[in-house]
Amino acid sequence: MSYIQEQKGEIGLMTYNKPLIEQTAEFVRQQLAGAEAGHDWWHIHRVWNNVKLILQHEQADHQICELAALLHDIADSKFHGGDESLGPKVAGEFLSRLHVQEDSIQHVQAIILHMSYKASLGDVAFHSKELEIVQDADRLDAIGAIGIARAFHYGGFKNRELYNPEIVPNLRQDKETYKNSTAPTLNHFYEKLLLLKDKMNTNAAKQIAEERHAFMERYLEQFYREWEGY
Ligand code: ADP
Ligand code: NI
Repeated sequence: MSYIQEQKGEIGLMTYNKPLIEQTAEFVRQQLAGAEAGHDWWHIHRVWNNVKLILQHEQADHQICELAALLHDIADSKFHGGDESLGPKVAGEFLSRLHVQEDSIQHVQAIILHMSYKASLGDVAFHSKELEIVQDADRLDAIGAIGIARAFHYGGFKNRELYNPEIVPNLRQDKETYKNSTAPTLNHFYEKLLLLKDKMNTNAAKQIAEERHAFMERYLEQFYREWEGY
């Protein structure tokens, strides 16, 4: 597949004396050039920062968490024909080239495969403290002011309606229904964004989520007010 070949070309150009995390960040930034703005390098950068913040309050393997945060959207399945194995594969190939230990590579790959919201709606077969932390970090970026911006940007990218009072949110979605939804962006708040606060794993993320959640509720109130014309 040409995507993988391109990846190898990029890796071939890299120097091997830089610290692992820095080199990974550089690789991800190159790979995500031109990506959809809600899943671009700056999303990764924010998730990476969130991970570092949560790690101040949690005991876990920092290197695994940071690598997984950096690589978690390297080939997101929703932009690659639904292929959920491509992200872990690209990440694994990259880390092997940097001679990262095999068990660490497998852990990072397992986190990437299991951390998405979609994955959490299916059968969950893997669990680790590091997964919990990176998942929280990613979910924090889906809520609050940035979460709102990302949702409407993604909706625009998919040409979804902003809101349609005739299409009600579907609160009982399985993984397939969720993935194939074409509903207005406002429905996504009820189908995912407002549910995330109660799905946080760590106490640090729960606290940050409270404030971001309250902000989304205020936003929705104002949205409906303006919709009705007052
Ligand atoms: P994950 O990548 O964790 O599985 P999603 O694919 O559900 O999560 O979405 C990641 C982000 O993309 C969401 O937080 C949101 O900003 C945006 N997004 C995904 N699906 C939708 C949608 N149907 N409407 C609006 N935004 C969406
Ligand atoms: Ni992400």
